This record gives sequence, C-alpha cells and structure tokens, in this order.
Amino acid sequence: MSNKRLIVALDYSDREDVKALLSQLNPNRCMVKVGLQLYLSQRESILEMISNAGFDIFLDLKLHDIPNTVSKALSEIEKFNVFMTTIHLQGGKEMIEAALSSVQSTKIIGVTLLTSLNDSHIRSLYGSVFSDQFARLISLANDTKIDGLVCSANELNLLHEYRGTKVVPGIRNKALNDDQQRTMTSSEAYNLGADYIVVGRPITQSENIEGAIKEYEY
Ligand code: C5P
Repeated sequence: MSNKRLIVALDYSDREDVKALLSQLNPNRCMVKVGLQLYLSQRESILEMISNAGFDIFLDLKLHDIPNTVSKALSEIEKFNVFMTTIHLQGGKEMIEAALSSVQSTKIIGVTLLTSLNDSHIRSLYGSVFSDQFARLISLANDTKIDGLVCSANELNLLHEYRGTKVVPGIRNKALNDDQQRTMTSSEAYNLGADYIVVGRPITQSENIEGAIKEYEY
C-alpha cells in the first residue's frame, strides 16, 4: 500500500483544468484518479502529463469483457505508468485471472457492486439481496490474487476479514447536496478499514484546496 491514502478524482474533460488543479496538489500527499471522461477526452497524453508531474495514477476504466479482451487491454495499460486500475469482479474468475496475468507492476482493483445499484436493482438483476450478492463477489475475489476492491463505505463493515486493499469513494465530511447518497466522512471510512478514499468535488470545487486536502488525508 502507498502511504498516500487520499485519491483525488480528476473528473474533467479539459487538460487545462487538470493542470490548474495539479499545480495546487502535492504528489507526495495524494494520488489522482483518471476516469473514463478524462481518459476519453485526452487519452494517454494525460497519463504522461500527470505522471511527469510526479503523481501516482489510479486509472479507473472499470473493464468488463471476455478474458482475452480484458487481458489485451491490461497489457496496454501496463505500458503506462499506472499505479492501480479497475476491472469489474462480475466479469468472473477467468476474466480476473486473465487480467492479473497481463500485468507485472500495475495493481488490479475489482469493482464490487456499483453504488448506483440499490437493493431493488440487485433483486431484479440477480434475484438475491444486496448483501448476498456482495458476499458472492468477495468470495470470488478471495479465490483469486486480485489486489483489492472498490466498495462504498457502507460495505466496509462486511469486509473486516478481507485482506486486500480497500478503495472507497462516496466520502463527504460536509453535505454538498449532490448526487452522492450514502456517504461517510473520511475519518469514519479510514476507521472502518478503508486503505484509500476517493474524493472528487469536495476537493476540486473547494475555494481552499490545501485546506480540503488536510481535511481528507489520513
Ligand atoms: O465528486 P465525488 O467525490 O462524488 O467523486 C467521487 C469519484 O468516485 C467520482 O469519480 C466517481 O465516478 C467515483 N465513484 C463513485 N462511486 C463509485 C465508484 C466510483 O463515486 N461506486
């Protein structure tokens, strides 16, 4: 695990916005997350720019495809300087193992159940309750050597026994009245076992970015 436990989400399309934010962040104090929006708008040049600025990258593309396709995609990601990247655990054991066999240095983190899915979505998709479906995915993760999981802070209490890395988005130290529903504060999440927390708008939209970083780092 890195000693930088705060991951700042760079949810932008514009390279200049990324540059402006990075100029206010310290690569020794946080990692940054590149998601689909930024990756598709700027492609690999943004990864080079971020890496040249000294930041560790969490590339969050949530890959979910047949094992061969995921394996080939991971071989491409491995060429970039990416600290960790995501796949969906729901791709199954063969897909997870294909992903793991395609990387040497990049860590692979499995997405459990998206926080946009509630109990009734899970029931209609899988015919089971949220906690059962979640437990099945954890058991699948435990059957492989995947490096860690992404889950919401609300699921951390189901992961006391899980030994891999736990990456947790949906963190709010103050209510922002935005789209995040079941949030937790950074200290609650760290205390419940989060290894990394992912924070976007509370930092990127703050008028005092340095102060916001202090508030969210471990
Ligand atoms: O701005 P905010 O703090 O809500 O950003 C959280 C980041 O974490 C966003 O990039 C969002 O896509 C991501 N994320 C999330 N919930 C998940 C998985 C990822 O909010 N379950």
